[in-house]
Amino acid sequence: MDEFEYAHKHWKDVVWMSQNTNTIPTDPAVIDAIISAAKERVYNLYPYRKGSFGLPEAILKDLGLHDLDIHITNGGIEALYILNRALLAEGDEVIATDPSFMPIHHQITLSKAKPVEIGIYGNPYKMTEEQVNEAVTDKTKMILLIDPLNPLGTDYRRNEVKAICEIARDNNLWVVDDITYRDFSEDHTLTTDFYPEKSLIAYSFSKNCGMAGLRIGALLAPPRVMKEVIKFDTNVLSVNVLAQRAALTALQTKENWLGDMLRICRNNQEKIESAVDKIEGAFLPVYPSFTNMFVIDVSELGIDPDKFEEKMLYDHGVFVRSGNYVSKRYGSKFVRVSFTVPEDQCDRFVEALGPTIESLS
Ligand SMILES: Cc1ncc(COP(=O)(O)O)c(C=O)c1O
Repeated sequence: MDEFEYAHKHWKDVVWMSQNTNTIPTDPAVIDAIISAAKERVYNLYPYRKGSFGLPEAILKDLGLHDLDIHITNGGIEALYILNRALLAEGDEVIATDPSFMPIHHQITLSKAKPVEIGIYGNPYKMTEEQVNEAVTDKTKMILLIDPLNPLGTDYRRNEVKAICEIARDNNLWVVDDITYRDFSEDHTLTTDFYPEKSLIAYSFSKNCGMAGLRIGALLAPPRVMKEVIKFDTNVLSVNVLAQRAALTALQTKENWLGDMLRICRNNQEKIESAVDKIEGAFLPVYPSFTNMFVIDVSELGIDPDKFEEKMLYDHGVFVRSGNYVSKRYGSKFVRVSFTVPEDQCDRFVEALGPTIESLS
């Protein structure tokens, strides 16, 4: 049986640390919003295409923005799909990284463009101004800025975001600002602060709000750009209306739950760090992480991360992800672990770590 099939079949018993999802409860009002929308049978109708009343405004408020158009999507991934299909053509190049969230690179390739992957598995574990400058050619169309970064946990400082935006402006490039993990960063900077005219934002409710299964996100773009890219929307009948109600409630109650959630997330990563610290040969390239995940390097131990993933799941019911999912060049060196899970579930990972490494070394 495939691992995802196994994990989904046993999902109630499995500790889900494989996809950077979030199983820490947020506000009970979110569940109430879904139930009451269902009871009202609001789902009998197609949703209002511009988004449930109040939702676009709540997203803008969350980001402190005013001048961008918003389109509600089936997760940030659909926002990225629309952008890539609309803005890229055959032969174009997109500056990206390795490791990265590879489904976006797949979308770029599908658009007949080429992701130019800067290797970032080494200090400072993110793109530098010099690397981005070197990667620009006359074919470059776009910079994909995932900030904070999946899977490494690094984020970009304000001056680094500024420098990347300046390169984009000098070369007339789009900047795709993938802010899926923004709430896990202590001091996140939007690219719109420096380059509003060609910044495009992919917004997600999956990780911070713990709504991966509801499939809701948004695309934000300057109005004249939105008019063009929206032609590539695959879903003109809009997005699940129960998800929209839940998303609005999550934003309206954010100050009730975000702090507690981040505290649990931080405690969990500390626990994992001290467990990894005790294992000679294993190390965390980036710590602390400014996302809800980091990678554990197991290359010195000669451990195959695919085997690690299997053993953790089938022997311990803990689902983590092999590095091979997020990196072509470096994936055999590490496993990725996300830690937005309740603390007792994180303890299960910590207990399973030593025995798993021992049995594979
Ligand atoms: C960097 C990045 N962007 C986008 C997504 C997609 O998020 P969503 O669930 O909002 O489609 C993910 C999901 O893991 C991600 O890691």
